Amino acid sequence: MSYSNHRHANHPESINTLAPVMLVTGSAKRIGAAIIRAAHCQGYRVIIHCHHSQTEADRLAESLNTNRANSAAVVVADLSIINSNTTLSRFTQIIIKIFGQLDVLVHNASRFYPTPIGSIDYDQWDELFLTNAKAPLLLSQAFLPYLQAQHGCIISLLDIHAHDKPFGNYVVYNMAKAAHRMMVQSLALDMAPYVRVNGIAPGVNILPDTNSDQALNATQQQSIIASIPMQRIGTPDDIAHSVLYLAQASYVTGEIIKVDGGRSLTLAGSTD
Ligand SMILES: NC(=O)c1ccc[n+]([C@@H]2O[C@H](COP(=O)([O-])OP(=O)(O)OC[C@H]3O[C@@H](n4cnc5c(N)ncnc54)[C@H](OP(=O)(O)O)[C@@H]3O)[C@@H](O)[C@H]2O)c1
Repeated sequence: MSYSNHRHANHPESINTLAPVMLVTGSAKRIGAAIIRAAHCQGYRVIIHCHHSQTEADRLAESLNTNRANSAAVVVADLSIINSNTTLSRFTQIIIKIFGQLDVLVHNASRFYPTPIGSIDYDQWDELFLTNAKAPLLLSQAFLPYLQAQHGCIISLLDIHAHDKPFGNYVVYNMAKAAHRMMVQSLALDMAPYVRVNGIAPGVNILPDTNSDQALNATQQQSIIASIPMQRIGTPDDIAHSVLYLAQASYVTGEIIKVDGGRSLTLAGSTD
């Protein structure tokens, strides 16, 4: 676990200690980074959490701090820290010490890969449930006193496949996101009235990296686009926009917003 704040000592006068603070897990790149950029643009102070992508996280923080000094920090940690009370408590203290408060907690970090029936093992179960269900719950619990103090909120990145329309060959991922979806609704009850809890269910909002083992070829991409009523792959900014809406929607809790260009309307509940 490590923390770097990229402080710009030349501009201490520009620190805005009234600005709300947002932590986004797994936010060095892709959708998480888009949420961080959009929140920063709206005046938030931001905490970029990452695991393997520290280079990208540092670069992102550096550019945000150049734009507004002392407004972005990076914390590096494998989310398996939640498996021990000691490391979870240390992580919580590190996050709170950065800006002294937390207003919005965004659960974005995730692992995503197929687990065809017959090949599922314990490690896959643990990894997919850790990032997509267990860490969101235990982090929410750990940060509750701080979020309560700010009348803050929690926003979870879910999936249109977390409910009713399972993604074929992804049973463990589907189950983990379904648990996460129920966490949103349960915590909305249990954390009211001081902390709101909502979710966003993306459809296809950014394709797997071209160099990843999940990369899609041109034919697969065309077939996905054809299944989306809006006739395009979504963008990370489409998600960021909804996160910012939920962050300020003071009478919305327990809500899950689909941001999928209508894709869930056309899904038959398989790999299409
Ligand atoms: N992409 C889509 O179109 C889509 C569709 C449906 C739902 N979603 C949901 O939207 C969210 C963002 O999607 P995405 O595609 O941008 O996510 P992603 O790139 O698959 O993952 C985001 C980050 O999660 C972090 N992470 C994974 N395991 C971790 C661990 N053990 N400890 C700490 N961090 C860990 C990684 O950080 P490092 O790189 O630093 O290791 C990774 O960069 C996810 O929750 C995803 O399930 C996305």
